[in-house]
Amino acid sequence: EKNGYAHFMLKEIYEQPRAVRDTLAGRLCNASGVIELPEINVSPETFQSAQRVLIASCGTSWHAGLAAKFLLERMARIPVEVDYASEFRYRDPLVSGSDIGLLISQSGETADTLAAQAEMIAKGSQTVAICNVVGAALTRKAVGTITTNAGPEIGVASTKAFTAQLAALLAFSLYAAQSRGTMTPEEIQALSQDLLKLPALMETALRSCQPVCESLAEIFANASDFLFLGRGIHYPIALEGALKLKEISYVHAEGYPAGEMKHGPNALVDETLPVVCVATKDIHDPTSVLKYEKTLSNIQEVTARGGRVIAIAVEGDNEIAKLVEHTIYVPQAREVLLPLIEVIPLQLLAYHIAVKRGCDVDQPRNLAKSVTVE
Ligand code: M6R
Repeated sequence: EKNGYAHFMLKEIYEQPRAVRDTLAGRLCNASGVIELPEINVSPETFQSAQRVLIASCGTSWHAGLAAKFLLERMARIPVEVDYASEFRYRDPLVSGSDIGLLISQSGETADTLAAQAEMIAKGSQTVAICNVVGAALTRKAVGTITTNAGPEIGVASTKAFTAQLAALLAFSLYAAQSRGTMTPEEIQALSQDLLKLPALMETALRSCQPVCESLAEIFANASDFLFLGRGIHYPIALEGALKLKEISYVHAEGYPAGEMKHGPNALVDETLPVVCVATKDIHDPTSVLKYEKTLSNIQEVTARGGRVIAIAVEGDNEIAKLVEHTIYVPQAREVLLPLIEVIPLQLLAYHIAVKRGCDVDQPRNLAKSVTVE
């Protein structure tokens, strides 16, 4: 069933363009240019009067939630709070009927996420699920569900479920933006069109990153620690890169917001430390470019201390290669679409390092695919 791939994880990494295509199918602009999401059972009026979106999830699904905060706040101008599901109910959270609860889970059976959902419902909020398993416990308590059509995910390390979650969250954010009138119909149409082209860009990233990641794994397989940096929406992707590496290769890795380095972690930097920096940019978006420039300064702080920077950058960015030891290029895209592309080299890097270290990629020690205890 691995279709000729050495591991399920690798097969699932390669299935991502298909998973994203299937998750978006039928959910973007119809002929009249309108986003329809009847399966969530949340009316445009509810989105208009909603005060906040409360997100709770775990692990990789929590990273998708962090990215969703950027998407929803930017596109639908609604405040978003993101919690670890395991923490949510232990702080007597403030929840009201004007909040929309959003639970994200590949399995839909994660005990912590179910407990957070129960807390939201008990306090009067409606909950929507984003889930990869039809009929899972999470979906049975939700008013509506966006099913991610990633298909069964076997590898313990989540890959295709993550990018499918991001695709579902983009559709959710577009619908929220349409309901709240924070994007014009033309903007919604244009973004929908670009979303349809996203799977092809992911294919390109898979093709171009594979050999580079394999050779970088050769160079860095024996490193004992890694840092992963990113800024803005790229920060959750840095966290995801670090989690992938930790889970399957047992190498210590931390994700950090690039701008926080000077507030402490720069002390860790020496000539043995690989620092993977997500330094992509949307060249048509001034905020994205500004953020990128700040990230470049953070990179220079690392290289000045001897740190070995591996940058993830967009094609055409020839300047960055002069500053860092290694550059992995991915296709250019809009800021809100870059996460689904830039996570690919991080997954491949973790995969190849784990293989080089002789680890059991699909069944890492001490971990279960679905965590059904709190
Ligand atoms: O099934 P869920 O999405 O609720 O699972 C949440 C986490 O347990 C899961 O993402 C875990 O962190 C993965 N092993 C990450 O690769």
